[in-house]
Amino acid sequence: MLKEKKIGFIGAGNMAEALIKGVVKKGIIDPKNIMASDVVTQRLDYMRETYGIRAMKDNIKLVSESDMVVLAVKPGDVYHVLDEIKGHLSSKKLLISIAAGIGLTSIERRLKKGSRVIRVMPNTPALILEGASALSKGTFATDRDLEDVEALFNAVGEVAIVKEQMMDAVTGLSGSGPAYVFMIIEALSDAGVKMGLSRELAEFLTLQTIIGAAKLVKQSGEHPGRLKDRVASPAGTTIAGIHILEKERLRGILMDAVEAATKRSQELGES
Ligand SMILES: NC(=O)c1ccc[n+]([C@@H]2O[C@H](COP(=O)([O-])OP(=O)(O)OC[C@H]3O[C@@H](n4cnc5c(N)ncnc54)[C@H](OP(=O)(O)O)[C@@H]3O)[C@@H](O)[C@H]2O)c1
Repeated sequence: MLKEKKIGFIGAGNMAEALIKGVVKKGIIDPKNIMASDVVTQRLDYMRETYGIRAMKDNIKLVSESDMVVLAVKPGDVYHVLDEIKGHLSSKKLLISIAAGIGLTSIERRLKKGSRVIRVMPNTPALILEGASALSKGTFATDRDLEDVEALFNAVGEVAIVKEQMMDAVTGLSGSGPAYVFMIIEALSDAGVKMGLSRELAEFLTLQTIIGAAKLVKQSGEHPGRLKDRVASPAGTTIAGIHILEKERLRGILMDAVEAATKRSQELGES
């Protein structure tokens, strides 16, 4: 049972906090079975006081006492931490890495043969429990491990299980995607202001339009093109706007952006 497992987070930053918040809020794991380690003492005090979890400076002690270890440090700190903890990661423990761009092979190569690893690519809306996370199973991780990690990340949003070769595309789409949407939100708000709306009203209308449209696609299960057709009446306002978006290549630009981000993720992985 996941509820009875002990879980330790190495690195108590933004992502670890989001996960801990979600897991505690949804009652997936008891706070007394959650631990976090970090180099920043203030951060540890904050996590202990806010979530009632155990917090410590010692990564090795954390690994020794955990059944599952979430590696939640920045990608640049991952290898250093792996070297530090590898002697204490037996095959009885599951390692979950959320570090962007670090492949399962490079993690497994650094650990004892047989080490169970799962790689996850979450995104920033996980911070408000609305994330999109993709999961890939390492060589020795079990289906049960995958189920446990799926339950964990379901606490901070929605989960997809993917082959690891897809992780660069995931990074280009859902990993980098929030930034694209932030830009679209900013642009629509600016447009509203240009057309005479107050900034406050323009932002309010933009946000609710984007949230509403996304929910409509998700909940109706209809093709977005069909929903678009339905709001574009003959010689109306919407089709006039759509014409400009098509002429200026909105769809092509978004596809180019995801392609560029995917390629960049591949390059970073190779380096
Ligand atoms: N944030 C996102 O939206 C997002 C999305 C997808 C994936 N990720 C991945 O999630 C991971 C964590 O990101 P984050 O945004 O949560 O980072 P973060 O807020 O910087 O958190 C990392 C924490 O780990 C601490 N740390 C550094 N070295 C350590 C060590 N040796 N032992 C223990 N703790 C150590 C850091 O302290 P210092 O600040 O002093 O270094 C910091 O408090 C990254 O690998 C990132 O690629 C994040």
